Amino acid sequence: MSPYLDPRTASAVIDLDAFATNIETLRTHVAPTAVMVVVKADAYGHGMVECARVAREAGAEWLGVATPEEALALRGAGDRGRLLAWLYGPDTDLGPLVAADVDLSAQSPEQITRVAGSAASLDRRARVHLKIDTGLSRNGATAADWPQVCAAARHAEQLGRLEVVGIWSHLAAADEPGAASVAAQQQAFEAAYEIAREAGLTPSLRHLSNSAGALLLPQQDFDLVRVGIAAYGIDPDVGVAALAGVRLRPVMRLRAQLAQVKVVEPGVGVSYGHTWHTERSTLLGLVPLGYGDGIPRHAGNTGEVGRRGGRAPIRGRICMDQFVIELGDPSTPAEVGDEITVFGPGDHGEPTAADWAAWCGTIGYEIVTRIGGRVPRIYHRGEERDHG
Ligand SMILES: Cc1ncc(COP(=O)(O)O)c(C=O)c1O
Repeated sequence: MSPYLDPRTASAVIDLDAFATNIETLRTHVAPTAVMVVVKADAYGHGMVECARVAREAGAEWLGVATPEEALALRGAGDRGRLLAWLYGPDTDLGPLVAADVDLSAQSPEQITRVAGSAASLDRRARVHLKIDTGLSRNGATAADWPQVCAAARHAEQLGRLEVVGIWSHLAAADEPGAASVAAQQQAFEAAYEIAREAGLTPSLRHLSNSAGALLLPQQDFDLVRVGIAAYGIDPDVGVAALAGVRLRPVMRLRAQLAQVKVVEPGVGVSYGHTWHTERSTLLGLVPLGYGDGIPRHAGNTGEVGRRGGRAPIRGRICMDQFVIELGDPSTPAEVGDEITVFGPGDHGEPTAADWAAWCGTIGYEIVTRIGGRVPRIYHRGEERDHG
């Protein structure tokens, strides 16, 4: 969707300096392990092309995306660095990815045959990372299928059509210190690596950890960590970054101008379904963002926004394009055009994405990633103008 919204009315302000600093912090934390910055899903809502460029400047050796289309968009935007794409369907033509020098994940003999076939038709050798399911039970080969996957990959290597450069997996509970699954997954990963070696493969890259793993589990860094949410300045879970002794700065500030300010009498129902009624004569403000822009409807009557160094509560249901906040008694200074912050770094008393996640029973990942295409992204480096 195009950003069909006047950026003065509402926008997501993306602090690229904070993004670069978070990446530098994470690189220092895991050094000498290399870092892959995950920029899938439009860089978790922050804007893939801009974030990818800054990630490279900040020293990211790798970028990671889910879909082939994301990978090709990055190549189209001029990115030439190491790039892994890991999720594609049975009908996807892998040729353009091999031609664009994108590393591909494969987890079955069928996928290996397809990658090798694409490479053959281009007279090239594709680079592959074999994915083992070590316990997340999401994608990846099962332990039972793994020897067959390794054998198929080795056969394709011998035909000169691909090179297995990596083996990888994904953790189920890296954000839960002490979770039994973490050690079990590490063991299964190491066993899978040995089986790959016995099959004659020589992958130089083993990667298992996401942000939480990179922050908390240095023994699981292996050769590469894949960090997403921490790079965007959001804790994978409450307290994880603090436990690791790492400070992260949220990168996205979602802000808007009040589109209307009005005094409403006591006892008046507000927004669809009249789920909230004014208790006294009060001043209401209209925020021109709604669930059509990714504002969670669950925040109705629950969430807050930042305004003039304080907070204003959301009253009534969130609508598709707008929601209502209570500004205070009718004498409260307020006017159309006043700046509000839906969420941000928290510097000016405004809520953070983590606060919104807590109010809505979700995770910070979802709060930022769901901010829709209608909302313009405004990129800045250096100090943002003070927004009170
Ligand atoms: C396969 C894979 N690796 C790494 C990541 C990054 O995870 P996080 O954002 O928790 O760092 C993701 C994100 O969901 C993923 O799907």
